[in-house]
Amino acid sequence: MRICYVVAMVAEAKPFIERYGIEEVKDFFAPLPCMLYEGKVGDLTLDVVLNGQQQGSDLIGCEAATMATLSAIQRLNPDLVINSGTCGAFCANGAEIAEVYIGNGVMFHDRRVPGDNAWGTQSLGNYPVWEGSRQLAKTLGFKMGKVTTGSSLDMQPCDLDIIQQNGGELKDMEGAAVGFVCSLLKTPILYVKSVTDLCDSGAETFEEFSKNLSRACEALKVANERVIDYLKGQISTN
Ligand code: ADE
Repeated sequence: MRICYVVAMVAEAKPFIERYGIEEVKDFFAPLPCMLYEGKVGDLTLDVVLNGQQQGSDLIGCEAATMATLSAIQRLNPDLVINSGTCGAFCANGAEIAEVYIGNGVMFHDRRVPGDNAWGTQSLGNYPVWEGSRQLAKTLGFKMGKVTTGSSLDMQPCDLDIIQQNGGELKDMEGAAVGFVCSLLKTPILYVKSVTDLCDSGAETFEEFSKNLSRACEALKVANERVIDYLKGQISTN
């Protein structure tokens, strides 16, 4: 089995890459900026694809995530894609900083186009998640939530309207773009998201995000070790 993580930020992937001692495969995606780390964990082939960097900072957002996911699936043909990263969540839903969730759905929250059952619906996305997501969350004791994706870190009132109307719980900047590509290429996708900030806490989002980033990424590493052990167990029993 080959699993491929698609991760936006070095800070999100580094604890995990170090934990498994996986090595960079230099220039694998050249001339694209995406980076590949690859190694073996038992019988499992573990790929971690990072979006890469531009002007000295990590490429976050949907465009970079689309590029990385498309390249990763076409070149590596994984059995499962895992989009792992940080997100905002809501105190109103009982979320806490550094809590890790598994996604039970994914959509865009900042594509405001009229038309039910046509462009409006298509724009929102609502892509499938891996059918084993619920069992994994149940077995490992993770909460589940719907991932909603937009191109901004802040949240405008019109974003919140769409999030609330659609039961969104985990606000990120890549998830639906990764899900879009996975739906086209019929590759199952699992979401593992760690909370850096609470969108309804009243705090300034970037400050809260920056303050909690390393703690949330440490929690993400611990969660991903458990996810990988679970998937390894699945291979040996199947
Ligand atoms: N990543 C971490 N926190 C986020 C937020 N509040 N919005 C979008 N992406 C995020």
